Amino acid sequence: MSKDLTILAIESSCDDTSAAVLVNRSVISNVIANQSVHQKFGGVVPELASRAHQANIVPVVDAALKEANIGIMNVDAIAYTQGPGLMGSLLVGSAFAKSLALAARCPLIPVHHMQAHVMAHYIDDSKMKTPRGPFLCLTVSGGHTQIVRVEGPLQFDLLGETIDDAAGEAFDKAAKILELSYPGGPLIDRYAQKGNPEAYLFSKPSVDGLNFSFSGLKTSILYFIRDMEKKEPGFREKHLNDICASIQKSIIDILMDKIERAAVQTGITHVAIAGGVSANTGLRKALENRSSRLGWEVYIPSFQYCTDNAGMIGIVGHYAFEKGLLGDLNQRSQARMDW
Ligand code: KG4
Ligand code: ZN
Repeated sequence: MSKDLTILAIESSCDDTSAAVLVNRSVISNVIANQSVHQKFGGVVPELASRAHQANIVPVVDAALKEANIGIMNVDAIAYTQGPGLMGSLLVGSAFAKSLALAARCPLIPVHHMQAHVMAHYIDDSKMKTPRGPFLCLTVSGGHTQIVRVEGPLQFDLLGETIDDAAGEAFDKAAKILELSYPGGPLIDRYAQKGNPEAYLFSKPSVDGLNFSFSGLKTSILYFIRDMEKKEPGFREKHLNDICASIQKSIIDILMDKIERAAVQTGITHVAIAGGVSANTGLRKALENRSSRLGWEVYIPSFQYCTDNAGMIGIVGHYAFEKGLLGDLNQRSQARMDW
């Protein structure tokens, strides 16, 4: 029997500091410190994010090791987020991971954050099915919206992506127009559950191929709210549930139409969602509905692996280690990173 593989993973690409310990494909601990400091600014303030990562990184890594009951000398490799993300945030995680790897004399594994969102589907979790064959992954986060063709662990091709705003950004910007706090996605989701998704109609983009666009929708929401507030002061608060339900439906329709097009083009009928927006209850339901209509096999991640977490960094670390894809101390953090 082969020896267990133990990975310590560190994620610090945006505004959550996270550390996880994986033994083989199982996540033994996954500690996340959210940064509430950004709420009152309506978005992530990069300088404040880096400072909060500095305050959080030692206690978060310490807690992940303690919770897993594993000493640093028993870790086989340290995986960390190399990019893409906010440079100051990435630097805190990478400098810490490199120092710890040097001190503990263990290998380092740099991880692509967006690939990690997709790879979360290979975590061994009783609430999730592990994909067997090729599948399409709709990865929807605060900074990216992508359709990825996945042949197997660490074998993927990018088929399409947004040409402007990301889906999560569309949720967050719409929430800002509605004077809701950051991050707005979960709030829109909550209000939408009590509203009528057909109440208002917003413009739909027409973008070729498998790419997305969300900036037109944002403008259409902005003008609609501005005009309605002129006609009926207090419109925003009075009809918040219906507005949120209609906005959410528009975003979901754009996403679902493209993933259906990708399924038709590739002939692949196994479809997954990943990233922060995959926590959206409406999107999860829409995927289930389309799967029963079109006979798809769907993969929906557990909530803890939707938004940023180190568990997903660790599963990339696991497969990279097995394939001998190790990094070194010279690798630099990358705010933008090729697929
Ligand atoms: O993947 P993630 O945690 O971070 C990035 O890599 O960007 O995604 C964060 C995004 C934010 O835009 C947030 O508003 C959105 O995910 N989000 C949601 C929900 N939960 C998080 N959007 C819609 N509905 C949700 N329930
Ligand atoms: Zn993310």
